Amino acid sequence: MPLPSIVASEPRPILALAPMATLGHAGFRTLVHEFGGCDLLFSEMISAEAFLGGTSFESWYVETAPDPARLVFQLIGKQADRIVEAARQIGRLDCAGIDINFGCSAPHIRKAGGGIAWTADPDRAYDLVARLREAVPAERTVSVKLRLGEGEEPDETLSLAHRLAAGGADFLTIHPRRMKEGYARPARWAMIERFARELPIPVLGNGDVRTIADYHAAVSTGVAGVMIGRSAVSRPWIFRDIRAGSHEEVDRAAVAERFHQLLERYQPPEFHHTRARRFHGYFLADMPFGARPAAQVHAMAGYPEIVTHVRSVLGGASGSRTPSQPAPSGMEG
Ligand SMILES: Cc1cc2nc3c(=O)[nH]c(=O)nc-3n(C[C@H](O)[C@H](O)[C@H](O)COP(=O)(O)O)c2cc1C
Repeated sequence: MPLPSIVASEPRPILALAPMATLGHAGFRTLVHEFGGCDLLFSEMISAEAFLGGTSFESWYVETAPDPARLVFQLIGKQADRIVEAARQIGRLDCAGIDINFGCSAPHIRKAGGGIAWTADPDRAYDLVARLREAVPAERTVSVKLRLGEGEEPDETLSLAHRLAAGGADFLTIHPRRMKEGYARPARWAMIERFARELPIPVLGNGDVRTIADYHAAVSTGVAGVMIGRSAVSRPWIFRDIRAGSHEEVDRAAVAERFHQLLERYQPPEFHHTRARRFHGYFLADMPFGARPAAQVHAMAGYPEIVTHVRSVLGGASGSRTPSQPAPSGMEG
């Protein structure tokens, strides 16, 4: 099975919501889904070790709303046994597949042996994927999200990708940045072409897709699909715009209210503050003159304060109804 069956027969490149820690919870996924147009929704990464440790919050991470058939749960972990066991358990939930995070380069994760650390040993990475393919029900996909390696050409990452495909990965996502690269340097889409052309499995490309034109440039590399992260937070309707090929006017105040409702429905109160703060860091910053109110959110001590602030910034303001395309500047990157 190449891509999850719900999208495998799509004649067009698919659109996927990127996995994003603290952002990709069921509430935010529902907001994106309500605008329509997204084919696959990746969960935020779930730590295999924490999940199996059974903290009181784990049930929130495995919520399957809004559309289990389009949901890919992403796992991250350092111990193969733990990752396989978590995938076995989560893979039995109603979902489309299990993805493994081999891309996260945050120092505390990498140094502990998780995320991108897996790519240093292709044999171990291959074994993990092969074990996952056995542990996860055949009707669910097993996939991997990768960054680029260090070389000028992506040969090493390509050879790893071939091994992951041989191990049983159904598809891969490539985020064409290197380990130590933040978001300042543009994603190297030119490198994705070779992955799309040479691998025997579908490849999703990811990085810096902000506009309808970016999407078309991305699909011209031959990828099976395009994954969007930050710009889906700035504009949760971006997938709809891409599918329609045009922008509609959007009432940002109403979108923010809906986000708060969904956050409260799908996340425990302990998470409301941090998750609202992260969301508005992108959502408010995307508006003309939004950088300042977005920065103010970061200094706020609690969730109710953020809601009040967002209402006063957006509520009733004439600028709240804005065209849905990106603001000319001020976008966080
Ligand atoms: C706040 C935030 C959290 C992220 N969390 C994850 C994660 O949990 N798993 C993952 O594979 N990538 C994660 N990423 C990386 C994104 O999935 C994506 O690769 C990256 O943002 C580039 O895509 P974009 O330019 O469309 O945002 C995260 C990115 C951001 C900004």
